[in-house]
Amino acid sequence: MTIPGWSDSDIFQLYDEIAATLREGDEFVEVGVAYGSSLVYLADREWPRGKPRLWAVDLWDEHMGGDNLPPDVFARMQALGSPMDAFVAMVKEHLPFERRDVIGMKKQSSVEASKEFRDGSLAGVFIDARHTLDCCRQDIAAWLPKVRKGGWLAGHDYSPTFLGVMQAVDEAFGWANKELRNSVWIGRRP
Ligand SMILES: C[S@@+](CC[C@H](N)C(=O)[O-])C[C@H]1O[C@@H](n2cnc3c(N)ncnc32)[C@H](O)[C@@H]1O
Repeated sequence: MTIPGWSDSDIFQLYDEIAATLREGDEFVEVGVAYGSSLVYLADREWPRGKPRLWAVDLWDEHMGGDNLPPDVFARMQALGSPMDAFVAMVKEHLPFERRDVIGMKKQSSVEASKEFRDGSLAGVFIDARHTLDCCRQDIAAWLPKVRKGGWLAGHDYSPTFLGVMQAVDEAFGWANKELRNSVWIGRRP
């Protein structure tokens, strides 16, 4: 089975592009990982310039998908144990052994986890956590300084379903400073 989740072809395209640019020792963070459908995709790319470090940040405090995954799929995730256990099981099921060690896990809130990284140290951050205005504002404020100059801060669900995401992203990045690919937003750190 594929990893249950909320990723889409626009995220996969962005991650293809990111994988091609990541260099040995670069650090990338995905905030809001759930069962890993997007992060595991990135971990499974070819990295032409050596292995990056991919950090998975999530609270993993409740199983996602009770209202929108097929019931048998949701039941399987629950049967794997805690939400974090289910993520680890998906990593083991979908990544060969030699590709798993690029992933590091931080079971923390987005803002708390951001404090563990030096300013200007990250190649990129992808935000797919809580989609309210306040949370998205906090996430952008916490993570943008962590991105190195020329790096990118991107995220999911820039759509009228999540007006808070649209507003927070528009406040942080003017029209000239962001790119939209359907519901994926991409901002660059100048
Ligand atoms: C939409 S899901 C992520 C989907 C995932 N990127 C995928 O590819 O399927 C949102 C995730 O954000 C996490 N989350 C929500 N608020 C958070 C916070 N403040 N800090 C860290 N993670 C959070 C939830 O636990 C959940 O797993």
